[in-house]
Amino acid sequence: MWSPDSWRDRPAQQQPEYPDSAEAAKVLDELRVLPPLVTSWEIVRLRELLAEAAEGRQFVLQGGDCAERFVDCTPARITNTVKVLLQMSLVLVIGARRPVIRIGRFAGQYAKPRSANLETRNGESLPSYRGDNINRAEFTPAARRPDPQLLLRGYERAAMMLNFVRALVKGGFADLHHPEYFDLDWARHSPLSDEYHRMVQTIKDSLQFVENVLGVRAGDTDKIDFFTAHEALHLGYESAQTRRVPRRPGYFNLLTHFPWVGLRTNDPAGAHVEYMRGIENPIGIKIGQTATRDQIARWLDVLDPQRQPGRLTFIHRFGVGRIADALPHIIDAVRAEGGRVVWICDPMHGNTQTTASGIKTRNFEDVYGEVEQAFDIHAAMGHKLGGVHIELTGENVTECVGGARGPSEQDLARAYESEVDPRLNYEQSMELAFLIARKMTNGSAQNG
Ligand code: PEP
Ligand code: CO
Repeated sequence: MWSPDSWRDRPAQQQPEYPDSAEAAKVLDELRVLPPLVTSWEIVRLRELLAEAAEGRQFVLQGGDCAERFVDCTPARITNTVKVLLQMSLVLVIGARRPVIRIGRFAGQYAKPRSANLETRNGESLPSYRGDNINRAEFTPAARRPDPQLLLRGYERAAMMLNFVRALVKGGFADLHHPEYFDLDWARHSPLSDEYHRMVQTIKDSLQFVENVLGVRAGDTDKIDFFTAHEALHLGYESAQTRRVPRRPGYFNLLTHFPWVGLRTNDPAGAHVEYMRGIENPIGIKIGQTATRDQIARWLDVLDPQRQPGRLTFIHRFGVGRIADALPHIIDAVRAEGGRVVWICDPMHGNTQTTASGIKTRNFEDVYGEVEQAFDIHAAMGHKLGGVHIELTGENVTECVGGARGPSEQDLARAYESEVDPRLNYEQSMELAFLIARKMTNGSAQNG
């Protein structure tokens, strides 16, 4: 029998060990009675849209920080995040000739899986930093101790961010009429500069077309939706806001529209999959190259027994050198099981490298290379890639190398902020969107 707490009978990876378990339980009780961050109407709406993405009629742009930080819950940061995602989505609409579903990796992306429980610096070992919902990044014993009060701070920040995003979007920030607000200075450094500027011109000229596809009238930005997503890692936190709603069957996770299970917690017999199986939200599952046919069959049977389009999204992340081997087997296995999943390419997590000086980075060319292959492999197998999942920021950070005017390895130290994975900056994100749009346009032309 499933219940919001039935996961407690299964092995749960990556959970913090609180020194005071009574305090942790009290925090969860407090969370349980607070209002939801999202509603079941929105969740059902996203599920319907994802059902269309599974059939190739919508394209998903999912993006945001690897780990959000509490200090970044500021008006400027939030505005820049909305801006980059909105602008990327406009570019993608042109390329995809389909509506784009915008899903922010935000308003709750505060808990991180870690490969090692301990981090060692100069001979001292402390618990790893696991995201602002769990502990603090500073390297001291006090900061690294898991603190359950942070869950309440995270819930509140998620609410504040969402409140501001909703107001921005409703208030006209998402006005489609101003592609001139795009910062395209970097494009001069690209051999594709003219093409990019033509695309922006196309966005202007074809506003009518965009409006038709999105179903948005001029000046009517109410229907520009932003959905939220985060990794459902801390199961006590997720289940505290999982409940029934009036007049709709089932249980909803009301902290986010689209929770996903990460690679390190996706065991079909584990606690995370058990938790996910009982909620009505559309759910994502990260898939790597080691996924077996048996695992794929079990994910489908446990999480999507009815094979409903929109229920399950496979977010595949292999690395530019591995996708060509790994993806076709996985597509075959899903097809053999009758799965009708949304396929999303995460070109970030299989392409992380460490520089000679020990900095974690990713190469823009690898990121685009994996996406490009994902389009080709899906097309060769007779369907469409349903979307992309990108770690990005609207800020001018130097975390990933490459791109038209991107940082080199020597530049990385200049503005490196991420405590975990390196993100594409504003320019790299826009460049990626242009390249993907171009690929979608050319790809569909070749396919007739
Ligand atoms: C992530 O999305 O930040 C992440 C940890 O990914 P994965 O679970 O695919 O490794
Ligand atoms: Co990451």
